[in-house]
Amino acid sequence: MTDRPAETPKTAQGATARAAQGQGATTPAPPAPGQDAAALRERAVATLTRARDRTALLTSCVDEQDLTAQHSPLMSPLVWDLAHIGNQEEQWLLRTVGGRDAVRPDIDSIYDAFEHPRSERPTLPLLPPAEARAYAADIRDRVLDVIEHTPLHDGTPLLDAGFAYGMIAQHEQQHDETMLITHQLRKGPAVLHAPEPPAQDTGGATALPTEVLVPAGPFTMGTSTEPWALDNERPAHQRLVPAFHIDTVPVTNGAYRAFVEDGGYEDERWWAPRGWAQIREHSIGAPLFWRRDGGGWLRRRFGTVEPVPDDEPVLHVSWYEADAYARWAGRRLPTEEEWEKAARHDPATGETRRYPWGDADPAPEHANLGQRHLRPARAGSYPAGASPLGVRQLIGDVWEWTSSDFLPYPGFRVFPYPEYSQVFFGGDHKVLRGGSFAVDAVACRGTFRNWDLPVRRQIFSGFRTARDA
Ligand code: AVJ
Ligand code: FE
Repeated sequence: MTDRPAETPKTAQGATARAAQGQGATTPAPPAPGQDAAALRERAVATLTRARDRTALLTSCVDEQDLTAQHSPLMSPLVWDLAHIGNQEEQWLLRTVGGRDAVRPDIDSIYDAFEHPRSERPTLPLLPPAEARAYAADIRDRVLDVIEHTPLHDGTPLLDAGFAYGMIAQHEQQHDETMLITHQLRKGPAVLHAPEPPAQDTGGATALPTEVLVPAGPFTMGTSTEPWALDNERPAHQRLVPAFHIDTVPVTNGAYRAFVEDGGYEDERWWAPRGWAQIREHSIGAPLFWRRDGGGWLRRRFGTVEPVPDDEPVLHVSWYEADAYARWAGRRLPTEEEWEKAARHDPATGETRRYPWGDADPAPEHANLGQRHLRPARAGSYPAGASPLGVRQLIGDVWEWTSSDFLPYPGFRVFPYPEYSQVFFGGDHKVLRGGSFAVDAVACRGTFRNWDLPVRRQIFSGFRTARDA
C-alpha cells in the first residue's frame, strides 16, 4: 500500500495476497479495505486476543498488592490500566459499535484518564484485581458476540475496514507498553522473563557507515490509506525536505557513556534551559536506571542489575538528554519529517513505503517489537528491516525522540474523539517515532506518532542524530 498526497483509489490485491501468505502468528496484518467480512472478523478477534494475552501476562505475574500499589507517581496502579482497558472497550465496541446497553456506566468516570491524573488514581475506589479481571473478561465476551453479529461494514468511517476494532486493540497494546513501564519502575526481584534478542550477524555496527545521506526532494508524509492508522497520522501530504544525514543506527550506550564521562551533564552549554534546570534540580547525571559501579556502569532492567551493554541503543533518556547529547556531538535531533522520510521514502521509485523494508507487515526478522524480548537488540541488528538507503532499526527497539513538537498535519480531522490526539497538540509535547521493543506491531507503523513531555525518561525512549547535508 502506497500513500499519495491525493487519494488514489487502490485495489486491495497486494495486501490481500500478503495477508494470505501469512506473516507469522505474532503479527496479523491490519485488514485491507477490500477484505471480506469473514477475514476481517478473524483479524479483529486475533488482534484483540493477542492484546488480551499480553495484558493477562503483565497482570498475573505479580501479587494483588503489587497490582494495586503505585510503583511511581508517574504511573497508574496496574489494576487501573486493566479496568481502563475494559472500560474503553465497553464504551467503543460494546456501546458505540454494538449498540448494546452499558454494563458498568457507574465506573466510567473512575477510568476516565482526563478526570484523574495518574498520581491520584490509587485514591479512587478502583475495582479490586479479581473484579477488574472479571469485568474486562465479561466485556470481551460480549464484544466477541458483537463481532459475530454486527455487520463489519456499515458505511460509517468508525467501522471502515474494522477500524474501531483496530483502534481498541491498539489502545490495549499501548496500555500493555504502559504497564511494562510500570513493571520497570517496580522495585523487587524479576517476575518477567523473555529470550534474548536473536544473536544476529550485524556485520558489526562498526562495519556499517555511521550515517546515511537522504537526498533532497519531495516525499509523501502521513497516510490516507492505512486502514488502522489513527487520526494524527492522517492525511497523506507532501513535504519538501532538504538533504540531510541521519545515523545508521540509534545512539548506543557506549556512545552516550562518552558524553556522560566527558562531563556532559556538568556543562550547561549542551542543554536547553529547561533541561538544564531539570538535571540540576533532580541531580540527574546519567540515563534513568543507570548507576556507577567503580569505573563502569550498571543498570536495573526488570528487576535484574547488569552491566550497561555498550553496543545496545541507549534507553530511558529524556528529550533534553537526547538534545544535549546531539549538541555535544556537533549534531542535532532529526525532525519528525526527516525521520519519516528516512524510514519510508524510496529514492529509487519516489514512492513512500509502509515500513522501511517495504509494504509487508512486521515479522520477527524485521524488527524487535511486541515484548518478545525485554530489551533493545544490539545496534546494527535486523538487516532485513533496513530502509532502502540502509538505515537500521527505525522500527522497534527504542522510541526515537525527534526535534518536532506534536502538531496536526495539514488537513487533520479529529477521529473519532478529540482526547486521543487533538488535546495534546501544541508546543508542550515532543514527537517520538518508530516504536520500542515493548509495543506491538498493531500499534507501530512507519506513520505512527507517539508523543510525550520532554522531561519524561521512564518511557522506552532513545534517539538517533542527524545533521544538515
Ligand atoms: C499515544 C502513548 C501517548 O499512553 O498516553 C492510551 C496512548 N491514549 N490511552 C498514552 C493512549 C489513551 C497515549 N500515547
Ligand atoms: Fe487509555
